[in-house]
This record gives sequence, structure tokens and C-alpha cells, in this order.
Amino acid sequence: MSKQTAGTGVKPVTSLDIRQSKGVRKLTMLTAYDYSSATLVDECDIDMILVGDSLGMVMLGRDDTISVTMDEMVHHTKAVVRGATRSLVVADMPFMSYETGVEDAMRSAARLFQEGGARAVKLEGGHTVLPQVKALVDAGIPVVGHIGLTPQRVASLGGFKVQGKTAEAATVLVEEAKALEEAGAFCIVLEAIPAPIAARITQEVSVPTIGIGAGSDCDGQVLVFHDLLGLFDRFVPKFVKQYANLRETAAAAISDYKREVEDGSFPAPEHAFGMSEQEKEKFEK
Ligand code: KIV
Repeated sequence: MSKQTAGTGVKPVTSLDIRQSKGVRKLTMLTAYDYSSATLVDECDIDMILVGDSLGMVMLGRDDTISVTMDEMVHHTKAVVRGATRSLVVADMPFMSYETGVEDAMRSAARLFQEGGARAVKLEGGHTVLPQVKALVDAGIPVVGHIGLTPQRVASLGGFKVQGKTAEAATVLVEEAKALEEAGAFCIVLEAIPAPIAARITQEVSVPTIGIGAGSDCDGQVLVFHDLLGLFDRFVPKFVKQYANLRETAAAAISDYKREVEDGSFPAPEHAFGMSEQEKEKFEK
């Protein structure tokens, strides 16, 4: 049983709460992929924890998110759900777990919901995934949309590039956002699109928009945990603000540990267990 259902007295955030927050307050979303980071994010009252398929890159060291499997998503979602008391846990539907049709989408979302314990799912795409979004919402599974730069399509987009830079492409994004709202998505992630287009989409839809590289006029923001804390050093996208450099802090701590083990100052007496003199004497005899 997850902490969210264990009667802790804490009121978990629901998709309805998120939906109703538009225009009232700014929303926060942050990724997490394991128990410890989920407890941290949850304790900081972040509204939504996204178990993003970005875990393929920042946790598993792959080049993109395409090879992330449903088994991996379920595994990490379970760990996050154990650590989340209040934040709404949203799990990413991995590549090819929903594009192939409504039935596959239902089966995939059911795994994230039933086995993983997520309370919402996110899937990438606009017009092509509307039947899936509608079917999931009709089945009682809250859905987060995701348009703009959709990393699962990085091969056809030609790389991690800003989207919606022409008037025509921007118009398509506005239409897709409206269609996702119409299909029942309770919020929509806007990734790497020009700020004025994100502002326009935010005005045009009645569900909250959650931006990442989409400017400050979105209804909320999302960042990757490892980017915010300076834990991932392979590259730092322009839209990331590193609020800390935990890599440096962690490296200093690990070097201190190595030095102290080597010079014999760790473990100190307070880190070791003793035994009664009587038992020690008996043992030595
Ligand atoms: O997988 C992920 O972390 C995401 C966010 C970047 C929105 O989809």
C-alpha cells in the first residue's frame, strides 16, 4: 500500500486540484525516479512528481528516452510512490506503449496505475494520440498531455530542438493543445517552444500548462531533478536553472571518505560497536 493510501492524514494532491489551480496559483512539477528523491520532493510540497522517461538518460546513462521500457517505468514508479505522501505522482508512458492504439494505451496505463501506483499518466503527442487520451480519461485515468519538443520523437525531429518557431508550426501547437483539452487532459506540458507561443496556448486552454523551456507565462513549471540540483553533467539545456551543484558537494564528500579510510580516521570509535568486558574476556579465553 502506498503512503498516499495508508491514512497518513495528509491530503494528497489530485488531478482535480491541479485542474482547478489555473489562474489561482503557479504549479510546480519535478521529476523523481526513486524513493529517497521522491520523499525529498514530496516534503518540499511540490505539486506533482513526474516519473519521467528522462530516467533513461539521467539514471541509466542512455543517449535518449526511446529505449525505456514499461518494466523500467513500473519499477521506478513503485519506488517513487512509496516516497510520495502528498504530491500527485504522474508516470510517463514510454515510447511505443500507446502509439500503436487505444488498447495498448489502456493496457500500458493500467500497469502504471495498478502495479506502479501512479495516479496520472503522461503521454507525448497531439492529434495522433487523441483517441488514446480520450479512452484513458473515460476509463478514469487522469492524463497529462505533452507537446512541443517530444523527446520520444527525437529521431524524426532531428534532435532536441526548439519547436513551433514558424507561424504555421505555432498554429499547429495551439490547435493540438486545444484538442488535448477537449480529449480530457487535465494539464499539458509545453516543452521547448517560444515563450510567446506558450503564453498564447496558456490563454487559449482552460487547463493548466506546465512549461519546460517555454517561458514564464505558463501556469506552472517542470524541471528534471538532476538538472535542478546539478547532478547530471553530460549537458545542461539552456532552459535549466541549476539551483545547486550537488555533484561538487558529493564529490568533495566522497573524496573526504576516501582520504579518511586511507588514513585510518574513519571509522572512529563512535561508528563502531563494542561488547561487555565480561563477554570480551570470555571470548579471548
Ligand atoms: O521525462 C521527462 O522528464 C519529461 C519532462 C522533461 C517534462 O517528460
